Amino acid sequence: KKIALLMGGPGSERKVSLKTAESVAEALRSKGATVVEVDVTGPDFEVPGDVFIAMNLIHGTFGEDGQIQSILEQRGIRYTGAGVASSRIAFDKLLSKERFIAAGVPTPRSQTYPLDGSQPLAIGLPLVVKPPREGSSVGVHICHTQAELESALEDAKKFGHDTLIEDYVAGKELTVGVLGDQVLPIIHIEPVEGFYDINNKYPWMGGTGKTNYNCPANLSPEVTKAVQDAALKAFQSCGTEVYGRVDVMLRDSDQAPFVLEVNTIPGMTSSSLLPKAAKAVGIEFPDLCAKIIELSLA
Ligand code: DAL
Ligand code: MG
Repeated sequence: KKIALLMGGPGSERKVSLKTAESVAEALRSKGATVVEVDVTGPDFEVPGDVFIAMNLIHGTFGEDGQIQSILEQRGIRYTGAGVASSRIAFDKLLSKERFIAAGVPTPRSQTYPLDGSQPLAIGLPLVVKPPREGSSVGVHICHTQAELESALEDAKKFGHDTLIEDYVAGKELTVGVLGDQVLPIIHIEPVEGFYDINNKYPWMGGTGKTNYNCPANLSPEVTKAVQDAALKAFQSCGTEVYGRVDVMLRDSDQAPFVLEVNTIPGMTSSSLLPKAAKAVGIEFPDLCAKIIELSLA
């Protein structure tokens, strides 16, 4: 039986997905699986009839937001990862924020800001401007000055009528992988310069940035527990199934965690985070891929 790898997608994270798929294809082949790569550019993709599961590796628009999940369900094709509703909620930072707040998950104070200027700005500088439905830090701006804010709001218009504005949390960038009901060790992401943006994330995509990763993060047992608890609660509050990765800021002033988002199709490239966290508990990359399939079939 074959495994279809759904890859690419029409969104801004297409290249990341193709890189993810390259790594996953190699890993599954190393375990003896027969892999069929399906380059998806929109709803009319074709999955061969003899595959037993489609592994969805499409980050962002169409792949991570519930759209492809809904099509796969209509066609009766089993797929990996979160379902339709939880994908939609987790990918939409406005919807997931509501879930976090309702579940008591600590998250930065925020505002949905209409770009037509019809509402006053309720968050003061420094702040973060984010497109509500993007990944890989596409369109994310940290603004310390009025001039930076103005240019960020101009850029935000490329992504829609509303943008998400959040309090800037000065602290450590952390991420927490979840595999089934297992919370993986925390990774502390330390870009040499700036924040973990696209330049610091993907050296293979022409990024010039450098990033150091520490896993498990060097944090006290109490802080480690608080971060992992917040991450798991965030994951569950979106109804996420199978696996994911929760991004968290740890405030320097008091070591308080703030959940930013849940990623339901986290990067699985050679430099990616979830594979690093899995490796820290002895799960090698091919076994991680197999585990995701196994949990999705359960
Ligand atoms: N959106 C990217 C792929 C990630 O979260 O890893
Ligand atoms: Mg994301």
